[in-house]
Amino acid sequence: MSSLLPSVMVGSAIVCLVIKYYNSHIQPWFFSKVYNPSLAVYHVHCREIKRKHFESIKDHKSADPELRKKGALRILEIGPGPGYNFEFYPPNSELTAVEVNRFFEEQFFEKQADHPHIKMERFVVGFAEDMKDVPDNSVDIVVSTMVLCSVRSVEGALKEVHRVLAPGGKYYYWEHIREFKHFWIRLVQHLATYTFYDLVFGCSLNRRSDEIIKANKTGYSSVEQQRFRTPFSNKLFVFHSAHVKGIATK
Ligand SMILES: C[S@@+](CC[C@H](N)C(=O)[O-])C[C@H]1O[C@@H](n2cnc3c(N)ncnc32)[C@H](O)[C@@H]1O
Repeated sequence: MSSLLPSVMVGSAIVCLVIKYYNSHIQPWFFSKVYNPSLAVYHVHCREIKRKHFESIKDHKSADPELRKKGALRILEIGPGPGYNFEFYPPNSELTAVEVNRFFEEQFFEKQADHPHIKMERFVVGFAEDMKDVPDNSVDIVVSTMVLCSVRSVEGALKEVHRVLAPGGKYYYWEHIREFKHFWIRLVQHLATYTFYDLVFGCSLNRRSDEIIKANKTGYSSVEQQRFRTPFSNKLFVFHSAHVKGIATK
C-alpha cells in the first residue's frame, strides 16, 4: 500500500497539470473555434426576441452631459465573444468590451467592421469579476448574454457591474439558468456540470443567476426579470433551454 502512494501522488499531479494546461490554453481556443458555430445558430434563433429585449437601450439618456448632448451612450459588454450583440446597439454607442478569452478578439473586431455606427472604445482581456480598468460610475449600460454561466463568481461579476454603472444606469442580461420545471433535466444539468461539462466547456448548466440577481445582494434599486425558454429547437439544447432575461437599474 505504502509503495502505491508515490505513484498515486505523481499520477494525481500529472492529471492536475493536464487539466490546468487544458483550462488555460486549449479550452479558450477550442471554445472560440469549435463552439462559436453553435453560438451562431443560437443567435439566429434568438435574434428577434433579443432585439425586443434590447430595444429600450436606445431610449436611455447618458449620465455624461457631453455624451447626452451628442445622443451617445457608453456601453460595456462583458463576455461578448465574437460580438453577436453589436446589431442591438443604437447609433453613437461607445463600446468597451471585457472578455476573458483573447482568442475572440480577432473575430470581435471582424464583426465590428460590419457595424460602423458603433465606436469601439476598448477591448480589455480580463475578468468581469475584476474590471479595474473601468472606473466607478462611468458606464450607462452594461450587457451580458450567456456569460454568468461561465464566470468564476456570479456575485463578484454583479458587484463589478454595479460599481461601473453610473447612477440610474441599466444592466441588461440574458442568461441560461438552472432548469425551473423538470426535475430530470435539472438532475442531468447537475451531473453533467460536476463531471465534465464545466471542465470541457467552461460553462455551468445549473447556475441560479436569476435568483442571485433577484436576491438583490448586489445593490440594484430595481430588477425586472422574466424566466423563459428560447425557441432553439436542437434536442441537445434542452439542457440550456431555461433562460432569464432582465434589466437591473442602479
Ligand atoms: C457562451 S459565450 C457567450 C458569448 C456572447 N456573449 C454571446 O451571447 O454570443 C460566454 C462568453 O463569456 C466569456 N467569459 C467567460 N468567463 C468570463 C469572465 N469571467 N469575464 C469575462 N468574460 C468571460 C467567454 O470567454 C465567452 O466569450
